[in-house]
Amino acid sequence: MKTVKLLKSPFEYKAPTLNNDHEVVHFFDSVPFYEPTKLKNLPTLAKKLNVNQIMVKDESSRFGINSFKGAGGLYAMACCIAEKAGLDVDNITYDELMKPEVKKVAEKITFYTATDGNHGRGIAWSASKLGTHAVIKMPYGSQEVRAENIRKIQNTSVEITDKNYDDTVKEVRELCANDPNGIMIQDTAWQGYEKIPGWIVKGYSLIVDELLHQMKETPTHIFLQVGVGSLAAGIIKGLEERMTPEEMPIITIVEPENVACYYLSAEEDDGTRHSIHGKTRTMMAGLNCQTPSIDAWPVIKDSAKFYGTISEDVDAQGMDRLSHPLGNDPKVISGESGAASFAYVYEILSNNELSNLRKKLGIDKDSRIIVLSTEGDTDPNNYRKITSVESKFK
Ligand SMILES: Cc1ncc(COP(=O)(O)O)c(C=O)c1O
Repeated sequence: MKTVKLLKSPFEYKAPTLNNDHEVVHFFDSVPFYEPTKLKNLPTLAKKLNVNQIMVKDESSRFGINSFKGAGGLYAMACCIAEKAGLDVDNITYDELMKPEVKKVAEKITFYTATDGNHGRGIAWSASKLGTHAVIKMPYGSQEVRAENIRKIQNTSVEITDKNYDDTVKEVRELCANDPNGIMIQDTAWQGYEKIPGWIVKGYSLIVDELLHQMKETPTHIFLQVGVGSLAAGIIKGLEERMTPEEMPIITIVEPENVACYYLSAEEDDGTRHSIHGKTRTMMAGLNCQTPSIDAWPVIKDSAKFYGTISEDVDAQGMDRLSHPLGNDPKVISGESGAASFAYVYEILSNNELSNLRKKLGIDKDSRIIVLSTEGDTDPNNYRKITSVESKFK
C-alpha cells in the first residue's frame, strides 16, 4: 500500500556560521573533464500539480558514472593526495595533482571503502583519474550488477560481504588499518573520523553552485533524500553559504520507510542520533543506511523543517513518472534512490487525500520546488521492470 509520512522537525532552526569559501568550485573548474549536470524543468507536470515550478537536478550524467557521488569522492581524494604530497589543500588544482612528483605519491596509496555501489563507483573512478588504487566492500543484498560496474573500472577489487552496511564499514576499517599505505575513504563520519567525510560533504556543494547558476529564481522548497545524510548536509551547507536565511528554501528530508534513521531521530526528539537495528531491506540501495553520519546530523537537525518517508511503491511510481514525462517535459532516468525525493513530492501533490500534507509543507501555486535525482538507472534490470512492464503512465 502506498504510504508517505511527514513529521515537522521538533528541533529549533539554528542560523549557521559558515564561510563563503569557494575552493571546491575552484578545484572543479581546473578539472578538464568536469561539466555541470542538467537542471531539468518540468512545466507541464508543475501546471498539472498546481505549483509554479518543479525542477529536477539530474545527477545521472555526473562524470559519466551515473550518480552524484563522483563530486564528493574526487574532491576528497584530491585533498588526501594533496595533503600527503605537502600541497595546500585549500588551493588544489588538477594540474598540480598530475605533476610527476605528486603522481608518485598517489600511486602508492590505496583507498578503502564500504559502499552500496554508487559511492564505491565514484571512488574507483576517481582513483582511475588520480592514478591511485581502491579496495571496495559492499553489504549483503547488494546487486551484482553494481559490483560489476565498479570492477570494470581499472579492475578494482570489489566483494559483496554477508554483513549489513555498518558492519561492512567496520570490516573495511580493520583492513585499512593493516595497510601502511591505506586511506579509509568513507562518506559517513564517526567519532575520530571526520576530516575525510568532511571533504566529501564539501565536494557535494558543487551541486548547489551549479543549481543556483541554473535557476532564474531561488527555490521555495527543496526535498533531499538521505542515507547517512552526507549529501543533504553538503547541499544544506552549500545553500547556507550562498543564501541569506530569508532566501533559504524549506528543507524536507526523505527516507525509505524501512530504514528511516533521520525520521526516527526526529521522532525520538532528544537531539541525538538514533539507529535502525537488524537487517534492513529496501530497493533504494543508496538510502539503506542505519545510522546518521555524526557530521551530517547536526547540519540537518539545525536546518531541516520536515522529515518524510516513502514506501517502495511510492518510489516506483516516482521513477515511472520521471521516465514518462507529460507534454514536452524532459525525461529523467532516475534509479531507486535517485527518484526518492521526487517520488515523495509527486505522491503528496497528486494524491488528493494528501492535501493536508501539501498544506503542512506550505506548498501552493507559487511554490518553486527542487528535487535531486541523485542517480540514473544504476540497477538497469529493476529500472526497466519498473518503468516498462509495470508502468502505469505508458
Ligand atoms: C543515489 C543515491 N542517492 C542518495 C544517497 C544518499 O547519500 P547520503 O548517504 O550521503 O545521505 C546515496 C548514497 O549512497 C545514493 O547512492
